[in-house]
Amino acid sequence: MEFEEREQVYGREAYYWGTEPNEMAEQTVALAPETSDTVTAVDVGAGEGRDAVFFAEQGWNVYAMEVSPSGLAKARRLADRRGVTLQTVEADANDATLPEAVDVVYSAGAVQYIRPGNRERQFGRFKEQTTAGGVHAIFAFVDHPEVPTAPDWTENEHAYAQGELAAYYEDWDVIEETAIVFDDESGGETHQHAAEILYARKPN
Ligand SMILES: C[S@@+](CC[C@H](N)C(=O)[O-])C[C@H]1O[C@@H](n2cnc3c(N)ncnc32)[C@H](O)[C@@H]1O
Repeated sequence: MEFEEREQVYGREAYYWGTEPNEMAEQTVALAPETSDTVTAVDVGAGEGRDAVFFAEQGWNVYAMEVSPSGLAKARRLADRRGVTLQTVEADANDATLPEAVDVVYSAGAVQYIRPGNRERQFGRFKEQTTAGGVHAIFAFVDHPEVPTAPDWTENEHAYAQGELAAYYEDWDVIEETAIVFDDESGGETHQHAAEILYARKPN
């Protein structure tokens, strides 16, 4: 989706991505480091906040990072409704730095907006700003020889090469790496996507 269209969609009352957490968010909670302090997390490309709010409901200190002001406004409304606090950061993942060191970096379906030339630096920044024992949970769309480009794919989205995501984490402990192909109806036309989901932990 292009920025203007997204602002329109996020400007509506209904939550385009729903208000319940992604399965990946639940798994991230299970993998989060055990700490006597409050877990601090950032959701990069948080959309309308479904996962960031779920993290806040775990008692975490959560930053929802997004380029979309409408998405962030909606995330704050969802947090209010659920009685939790969310810190929202309007930023572009292409050049963003994290507001503070975090224990968890989470991103579902947004890292394709980080242009290929910026990835090494941005993954490097996010890794560096993660505490030892901290976890990254990343869902990235990938190129796949049998999956045509989705009809709603835009010019500012750049699929990852297969295995590229894991390459950014060679010096971390990869907990799990999964490759999937799935059906999607976003944009109104059924199509397929290929993706890789990676969970990795920063060594102590
Ligand atoms: C597929 S949506 C996923 C939203 C959310 N993670 C979820 O699962 O509900 C991708 C999100 O990435 C955001 N986005 C697009 N470009 C971005 C950028 N350069 N930096 C940060 N977020 C971006 C979009 O506004 C959109 O909300």
